[in-house]
Amino acid sequence: MLDTTRTTGDLQALDGAHHVHSFTDPALITGGKTRVVVRGEGCQIWDSDGRRFLDGMAGLWCVNIGYGRQELVDAAARQMTELPFYSNHFQSTTPAMTELAHKLSQLTPDGLDHFLFTSSGSEANDTIVRMVRYFWKLQGKDTKRTFISRTMAYHGSTLAAVSLCGMPHMHAMDGGTLPGFAHIQHPHWYMFGGELTKEEFGLQAAQALERKILELGPENVAAFIGEPVQGAGGVIDPPSTYWPEIQRICRKYDVLLIADEVICGFGRTGEWFGAQTYGVTPDLMTLAKGLSSGYLPIAAVAMNKRVFETIGAGGLLAHGYTYSGHPVACAVALANIDIIEREGLVDRVRNDIGPYLHQALAQFEQHPVVGEVRGIGTLAALQLVKGKDTREIFTVEDGAGVFCREASYNQGLIVRAVGQSIVLSPSLVITHAEIDEIIVKLKRALDETARHFGL
Ligand SMILES: Cc1ncc(COP(=O)(O)O)c(C=O)c1O
Repeated sequence: MLDTTRTTGDLQALDGAHHVHSFTDPALITGGKTRVVVRGEGCQIWDSDGRRFLDGMAGLWCVNIGYGRQELVDAAARQMTELPFYSNHFQSTTPAMTELAHKLSQLTPDGLDHFLFTSSGSEANDTIVRMVRYFWKLQGKDTKRTFISRTMAYHGSTLAAVSLCGMPHMHAMDGGTLPGFAHIQHPHWYMFGGELTKEEFGLQAAQALERKILELGPENVAAFIGEPVQGAGGVIDPPSTYWPEIQRICRKYDVLLIADEVICGFGRTGEWFGAQTYGVTPDLMTLAKGLSSGYLPIAAVAMNKRVFETIGAGGLLAHGYTYSGHPVACAVALANIDIIEREGLVDRVRNDIGPYLHQALAQFEQHPVVGEVRGIGTLAALQLVKGKDTREIFTVEDGAGVFCREASYNQGLIVRAVGQSIVLSPSLVITHAEIDEIIVKLKRALDETARHFGL
């Protein structure tokens, strides 16, 4: 049982002794520096010393409906009481899995009507690598095996997913990517656009895909994968010309298009899915995070008819996880989707809090330490710069991102530093008053950062 009598110090000591954290320098965990988070309500969380924080990240971009929703607890309890586990192997299902697959077919863009469940976005992307290669094999095009992704992409931490990532520090850790993965530059206009308009740059950035396909040989390229808005890469929202051109190129060379909707899905960009926001129809999509608002681990691969019917005709699908379509996670995801629909949260992002957030953040365009304010819906980033006129971005050694993140944390606001950008991804239920609070706290953190770096 959970020992509820332990103090913060006890927990920090035990944590330092036994717990290996994700994306954390282990040296930071020893010496009582772990943050112990104990409770959440709406967009607020509390630590074990009773300190309140406004969570500008919705956990890890995932708590779309906010913390503390009893309906999800009740859905989990009901399903646990009735049937805590059964698998979907060997022709079995449970009502919750079937219902969730059916519900998703109504929400996802036309044609994406088949769903393979996993427990995480990483597993879903690993699954996609297997499914796509299997698809091409069944199509008689065995050589189509290479995936093209983008620099600064994040697609997960399992072996194939990390190869899809475009993060040099992740590849450096254990010796690079698997064979069969290539990358093109991410479409960050502020960094790479030079004198081009955003629209001109969007086209040019997409055409890098065509060059890469021709370099590798179209007969060797299986798929292109991208997040509609790159999240963990720094909230890179592409110019409007980018995605339609990517789709045109994929169709021209018969390269499958995969939208990784792990962050963008379930309302964050002001549509159910980012692909809809950017006007493209992918062949496959990766769903996770907002699917259950993070209340339980569940993710899915969505596939269109062409992909499904091909692999469906291949005989035994030799793939699956014990927890594929876990009934409790499916029941919670259904309750989560009910709330998103009933409370009109997708429209709320598009017509209310999305515009409100971005109008409020726009004032920081004048701030001496901010070069660019970007984002869409409830995704936003502030690019920290040393030189506004020259677009000179801080270096890793400068550490401006981490400095500003910590200054913000000291104000009671959780944001994230991605390189030298400060990123935000609050829950879809955030109020105007809470956005106002973000702005006040962020301004103090930015002012402190500017002072620290003499700007
Ligand atoms: C776009 C994207 N894809 C995949 C993943 C991996 O998901 P998970 O952490 O559930 O494995 C993430 C996680 O942040 C993500 O942002």
